[in-house]
Amino acid sequence: MSCDSQSSESVPRESAINVVNLKKSVITQEGELTILDGINLHVKPGQSVAILGPSGSGKSTLLGLLAALDTPSSGEIWLDGVALSDLNEEQKASLRKQKVSFIFQSFMLVDTLTALENVMLPAELAGVRQAREKAQQMLERVGLSHRLTHLPKQLSGGEQQRVAIARAFICEPKVLFADEPTGNLDAANGHKIADMLFALNQESDTTLVLVTHDMQLARRCQRQLLMESGHLSEPEHSNAQAPEAGSQDCSETERAGPKAVTAADDGAMPTRESGTWN
Ligand SMILES: Nc1ncnc2c1ncn2[C@@H]1O[C@H](COP(=O)(O)OP(=O)(O)OP(=O)(O)O)[C@@H](O)[C@H]1O
Ligand SMILES: [Mg+2]
Repeated sequence: MSCDSQSSESVPRESAINVVNLKKSVITQEGELTILDGINLHVKPGQSVAILGPSGSGKSTLLGLLAALDTPSSGEIWLDGVALSDLNEEQKASLRKQKVSFIFQSFMLVDTLTALENVMLPAELAGVRQAREKAQQMLERVGLSHRLTHLPKQLSGGEQQRVAIARAFICEPKVLFADEPTGNLDAANGHKIADMLFALNQESDTTLVLVTHDMQLARRCQRQLLMESGHLSEPEHSNAQAPEAGSQDCSETERAGPKAVTAADDGAMPTRESGTWN
């Protein structure tokens, strides 16, 4: 089942995500702060990509931009063939509803809704029939069938994270962005959630982009990228020439250090000029 209840006007391309010379700066009291400094990235449909890197290096900022939740200072992002700079806020919201799910580092559950209602929400907004039953199934899958009527404040951090994960999965998105999806979970639940992420990746051909500090989780992805001070690079042993989109569990061998390349794999980048956004 999909939450894509609208017809898409996107141009079909061979990439799920294309990023060209993406920059993000903000004005602070100390002056201009450059958070992302020229990011290039190409992700094929169905690929799984982990972004690693120190705290404060710009990982969450990049994820927010890729998911059309934030606006870059310059550069271009194509999501499933659609140039985000061509869209107004309403169109971006529509694109997100059709194609994207996001697991936030801070969960972002609605405080006044129960676990079940939080998971139902995106499916109801997309007009999915039997949203309640589907939400119940998703919560069972993350081990929370005994917490359906709890409000977020009545749930532990790990339980809230699992509700957020169930909510992200309910629409079987084309692209799933996950910001430290196992950050608050114990090892057993972390494994279970990781298994779910890769099951979705394989069953629905969902493209996965996840930020994590967990090397075990990162190594299950086809590619591992490193963010450092607003620059993204790809270690030589990252499986950029992925055997097949949707395959998983890359080698456990040690990764070499990053090479100074920000473009990701063999796909041609679009040549559209970078523009400054509002
Ligand atoms: N709106 C903003 N205004 C000022 N500074 C910001 C803003 N957004 C992000 N930053 C700064 O940009 C840097 C990158 O933030 P970001 O949240 O992307 O880091 P991160 O790599 O996700 O870190 P973590 O691993 O701790 O989650 C941080 O130093 C943060 O303080
Ligand atoms: Mg972060």
